[in-house]
Amino acid sequence: MGGRRTDPIPPTVAWRAGRVRLIDQRALPGRLRFVECATVAELVGAITSLAVRGAPALGATGAYGVALAAAVRPTPAAVRRDAARLRAARPTAVNLAHGVDAALAAFEAGGAPAALAAARAYAAADVDANRTLGRLGAALVPVDGRVLTHCNAGALACVGYGTAVGVVRAAHEAGRRPAVWVDETRPVLQGARLTAWELGRLGVPHRLVVDGAAGSLMAAGAVDLVVVGADRIAANGDVANKIGTYSLAVLARHHGIPLVVAAPWTTVDLDTPDGAAIGIEARAADEVTTVAGVRVAPPGTEVHNPAFDVTPAALVHAIVTERGVITRPTAARLQRLAGRA
Ligand code: MRU
Repeated sequence: MGGRRTDPIPPTVAWRAGRVRLIDQRALPGRLRFVECATVAELVGAITSLAVRGAPALGATGAYGVALAAAVRPTPAAVRRDAARLRAARPTAVNLAHGVDAALAAFEAGGAPAALAAARAYAAADVDANRTLGRLGAALVPVDGRVLTHCNAGALACVGYGTAVGVVRAAHEAGRRPAVWVDETRPVLQGARLTAWELGRLGVPHRLVVDGAAGSLMAAGAVDLVVVGADRIAANGDVANKIGTYSLAVLARHHGIPLVVAAPWTTVDLDTPDGAAIGIEARAADEVTTVAGVRVAPPGTEVHNPAFDVTPAALVHAIVTERGVITRPTAARLQRLAGRA
């Protein structure tokens, strides 16, 4: 199948000669360049500045970060301190804490080599999970379907393949001929910069729209499906994802269009009871007062810049994970899937 050919998008996160190598997503789409982090401080900087972003990619970065900490200063106290710094770098995507914890547990049991082996396994499992959930989700994409997506939930947001874009990609590989409406995704334009770049590399037809276009596209009958990723899925099925997802979910419900959330099981957090308990990251004002580095708001303008919002489970048609598809998600349905490793 096409999916097993050389991937047109290199791994987002990898271990190279004692360093963590990341695609520098700040430089895309202009340049495909890499940043190599030799210290945990550099890696934390890469996370907070969005050189690496997207929930599953953050999970693998956190795991490799613990491996890096263990390689650089292998005393248990130092590694635990570094793990805590990595965990705190971004609060909403549960995958980050999950990846850190997986590698830290391995370190506690077997030292630096075990931490690195766990990080490698974590990264490989992410790509496998995304391929599987992509295949499962592709069945929900109508033939010739027009799919709207928000932010970037593609290979760049994972170690590889992607979640929401993975669903589209699998549908494309299966000959279902999807076409994608790409939300530009203010404030930092992950849709315009990253999703459009990925879809171009994959040869999937797509058109870029401003975020405010979604409603009129839906009203015109030009959207068959909305597919997004997730940063955290609470035990009751509420979904935190990029700011603007909730607005899309309300619009989709109004127009009778299914909203599908695609995420690996590492994004499901059964310890968080519902969306109200999810911590939403507030980011810097200059993301909003500027566009591509150019100031657009008057000096002194006050800003509110939450990076994510919460979509209630009741607005979600289906959650697609590698463990299976849950339609009309509820706590009981998620719990049932939790038992299926
Ligand atoms: O702030 P970002 O770019 O890290 O936000 C990313 C998203 O909201 C994605 O939709 C989410 O992490 C899912 S990625 C597969």
